[in-house]
Amino acid sequence: MEYIDFEDKNIVVVGGTNGMGLHLVHKLLELKANIIVLGRNINKPELNDIKGKCHFLACDISNSKEIDDTFDHIHDKFKTLHFAVNNAGVTAPYSNISELDIDKWKKIIDINLTGTAHCLKREIQLISQNKSGAIVNISSCAGLQALRMQAAYSVSKAAINMLTQVAAIECAVDHDGAHSIRINAVAPGPILGGMNNEENLQKNPEKTQRKLSITAMKRFGTAEEVANSVLWLLSQKSSYTTGVILPVDGGFNSGKFN
Ligand SMILES: NC(=O)c1ccc[n+]([C@@H]2O[C@H](COP(=O)([O-])OP(=O)(O)OC[C@H]3O[C@@H](n4cnc5c(N)ncnc54)[C@H](OP(=O)(O)O)[C@@H]3O)[C@@H](O)[C@H]2O)c1
Repeated sequence: MEYIDFEDKNIVVVGGTNGMGLHLVHKLLELKANIIVLGRNINKPELNDIKGKCHFLACDISNSKEIDDTFDHIHDKFKTLHFAVNNAGVTAPYSNISELDIDKWKKIIDINLTGTAHCLKREIQLISQNKSGAIVNISSCAGLQALRMQAAYSVSKAAINMLTQVAAIECAVDHDGAHSIRINAVAPGPILGGMNNEENLQKNPEKTQRKLSITAMKRFGTAEEVANSVLWLLSQKSSYTTGVILPVDGGFNSGKFN
C-alpha cells in the first residue's frame, strides 16, 4: 500500500520513545514524514540511531504545564501539525477493585486519559490551521471488553474510545466547511514488545498463556500490524472513516473463546 500523504508532513507521536510508538516512528521515517516525538525519556540508547532524523521533546503528559509548554514550542517551531498519534499509556499491577490503590488509579487516569485529552486539545488546535488532517488515539482491547484486575487501565481506555468519538463528531467539519479532522482509535489486543517484552512475558508464564488464549488467532500481534492500521487510519485511504474504534486484536473482541 502506498502512503504518499506523509512526505514532509508534520506529525506528532506522543509516546514514540518505546514499543509500538517507536516502531511507528521508524515506519514514518521511511515515509519521509517530519516527526516530532514526545516521551519522558528521550535519551535512551535505543533512540540514538534516529536522533538526527526526528525532533525529540521531553514531556511527561501527566503534567499539564509540560504539555502546554511542549505544544507552545511545537507551534513556535513548526507553526502547524498535519497528523497526530496519541500512543502514550501505562498499566498498573493487577488488583481487584476491592483492593484498589487510589493513588495508582489516579496516576493511570492522569496519563492515559487526562494527558491524552490535553494533547488532543492542542493537536486539534494546530491541525485546524490546515484544510484537513487526522489523529489516531491508541486505545486497547481492554477498553472494549472488561478485563478483571485492570479497572483503572480498562476504564481509561474505554474513556479514550468515547473521547475519540466526541472529538470525531466535533471535528468532522467546521462551521463554514473550511477544515475537517478525522479522529479514530486503534484498540490493540496483546502485542509483542513494549509492555509485553520478553522479560515481562517470561516472568509470568501463566499470565502470558492467558493473554494468548483470549485471542481467536491464539497468537500475539506485532507492532508492525498495529502500525499498518494506524497508518491506514491517518492516510487518505480511510478518507470516509471517522469516530471508529478499530480492534487490532486477533479476534479478541469478536467473542468468547475460553
Ligand atoms: N503492548 C500491548 O499489548 C498493548 C495492548 C493494547 C494497548 N496497548 C497500548 O499501546 C500503547 C503503547 O504500548 P506499548 O506496549 O508499546 O508500551 P511501552 O513500550 O511501555 O510504551 C509506552 C510509551 O508511552 C510513553 N509514556 C508513558 N507514560 C508517559 C508519560 N507520562 N508521558 C509521556 N509519555 C509517556 C513511553 O515513553 P517514556 O517512557 O519515554 O515516557 C513510551 O513511549 C499504550 O497506550 C498501551 O496502553 C498496548
